Amino acid sequence: MPVIMNTHQQLKEYYGKLLQSSSDLKTNACACGEDAAPLPIRRIIKDIHPEIIDRFYGCGSPIPPLLDGCTVLDLGCGTGRDAYIIAKLVGKSGKVIGVDMTDEQLEVARRHIDWQTDRFGYSKPNMEFHQGYIEDLAESGIADNSVDVVISNCVINLSPDKPSVFREIFRVLKPGGELYFSDVFADRRIPVALKDDPILRGECLSGAMYIEDFRRLLREIGCADYRVVNKTAITIDNDEVRSKIGMVNFWSITVRAFKLAEMEDICEDFGQVAAYRGSIPGHPHYFDLDDHHRFFTGKRMPVCGNTASMLQNTRFSNHFIVEGDRSVHFGPFACAPATSKAASADSPLGGACC
Ligand SMILES: C[S@@+](CC[C@H](N)C(=O)[O-])C[C@H]1O[C@@H](n2cnc3c(N)ncnc32)[C@H](O)[C@@H]1O
Repeated sequence: MPVIMNTHQQLKEYYGKLLQSSSDLKTNACACGEDAAPLPIRRIIKDIHPEIIDRFYGCGSPIPPLLDGCTVLDLGCGTGRDAYIIAKLVGKSGKVIGVDMTDEQLEVARRHIDWQTDRFGYSKPNMEFHQGYIEDLAESGIADNSVDVVISNCVINLSPDKPSVFREIFRVLKPGGELYFSDVFADRRIPVALKDDPILRGECLSGAMYIEDFRRLLREIGCADYRVVNKTAITIDNDEVRSKIGMVNFWSITVRAFKLAEMEDICEDFGQVAAYRGSIPGHPHYFDLDDHHRFFTGKRMPVCGNTASMLQNTRFSNHFIVEGDRSVHFGPFACAPATSKAASADSPLGGACC
């Protein structure tokens, strides 16, 4: 417990007192998310208060499509850039809840609620910001099965108790709900001697999860299949920091995972086929489930059981026709060349897999 409290205290100092804007960061790891946002999101960013933008410390763009009417929870919302983008996307009937432990960050987020509400043309706020810890969302009043989408931008790496964070996420998500987050990941476990370095932790490096440990952790809490949506190498642009931790390769990765009961740890083939209707707003021609599943509008694609479930038992279900069920099993799914983002509509590629 004291270790957790010390880490929280150190980080509150870092984000509440030491940093006043993204230009105070010592490396580009935490604030490498500025350019990651796609065009429609960048248009919304123009409507966000400059003070909020100035204190954005995210490493990706964890904003999934199809949020209209959703309840979204932003873990470690900081001054609220992503929470406000989502407030626009969920619309008047949706809701955004931001949770952060650092008072100074929340003070900025809360100060602009009325301004943002007005800017988005809403008669009342659809966003709220809670002071709390992502390891204990019950303390912040977030009930079981109450959230459609959990997002987070460059925060979970900072937690000294990641199993609790993921357990809480899957507790608060509704069945079929989605975790969609961007974070710093590493290609190995961080050397023990560097783990508690306050600068390395504050800069989102020494708490970065080794990607295989992340896979194991999700599996332990019952989520056997997650998908990578985007992956960008982080080059550390500070000589002193690089000389300390340069043996580790870091990436900013955007991950999606669903709260679904039937996820299996490898792709299994039940002969199922999925076709995209082209109906997700902003995605008329194709939809990318992840970095190797591009569903072109109207094209039938063989899918494994996990992928079928992600399309059929989530908020995406109205936008796909999924043929077949799990009544007949054909063995492991043949991971033929997957239809990746690099593929074109007329490529001869057939199946797709995890
Ligand atoms: C790198 S900043 C990212 C902030 C925000 N997501 C953004 O993109 O600007 C990390 C934020 O996470 C918060 N944070 C870190 N650990 C936390 C925890 N265990 N519980 C709640 N908030 C936490 C910090 O206070 C800080 O605001």
